[in-house]
Amino acid sequence: MGLLGEGITEVIAITKDNAAPMGIIAKSNLSPKMILFKGSKTAKNIIEYGWVTANFVSDCYLYPQYAFSDVAADDLVDISVGGIMMQRLLSADAWMAFRTVVLHETEETYYIDLLLVTSEYVREESHPINRGFNSVIDATVHATRYVHNKDSRLRDLIEYHLSVVAKCGGPREREAGKLLYEICGL
Ligand SMILES: Cc1cc2nc3c(=O)[nH]c(=O)nc-3n(C[C@H](O)[C@H](O)[C@H](O)COP(=O)(O)O)c2cc1C
Repeated sequence: MGLLGEGITEVIAITKDNAAPMGIIAKSNLSPKMILFKGSKTAKNIIEYGWVTANFVSDCYLYPQYAFSDVAADDLVDISVGGIMMQRLLSADAWMAFRTVVLHETEETYYIDLLLVTSEYVREESHPINRGFNSVIDATVHATRYVHNKDSRLRDLIEYHLSVVAKCGGPREREAGKLLYEICGL
């Protein structure tokens, strides 16, 4: 499975001129998959262009940043992969490039098969286990739903995770926490 762990790996998915955090589902002996909710630019681009790169980053701030804002053109690098021009994140520690195939579609989602074309380790980066980092990811997942429905259970979860960020995170995690407070209006 290369860079992917079994289960769901949270990456920054780059599609044409777009970045967003997305989960990649991996099971041994099967090609990785994505479940994409319709309405995102990522889903639209994957349907239109048929490729995605999975970018592995050590800066937690990029998860809320790209969940809620557009990517700057300067943050992307063009790469020629298997005869297709794709893009990856300039700051990625490692990346995997996939062609995509829609396996199944519901009213709300696409179920996408990911066919690996190539991958690269850009730099060796140790990634210390930090509860603050992980809580930024969790709080961002909840925030992407909370901004639409203002569900008080999600607000409680976000506040819990941001309290872990405040207790265990370093400066970058706390900056990401501040961004999430602002986005959620907490
Ligand atoms: C860690 C994380 C994982 C996510 N995984 C998915 C996913 O697997 N599928 C999905 O449709 N949305 C997922 N999201 C939500 C999207 O990132 C969010 O809807 C984003 O705004 C889409 O941006 P886009 O319109 O630029 O594609 C995830 C969010 C986070 C923070």
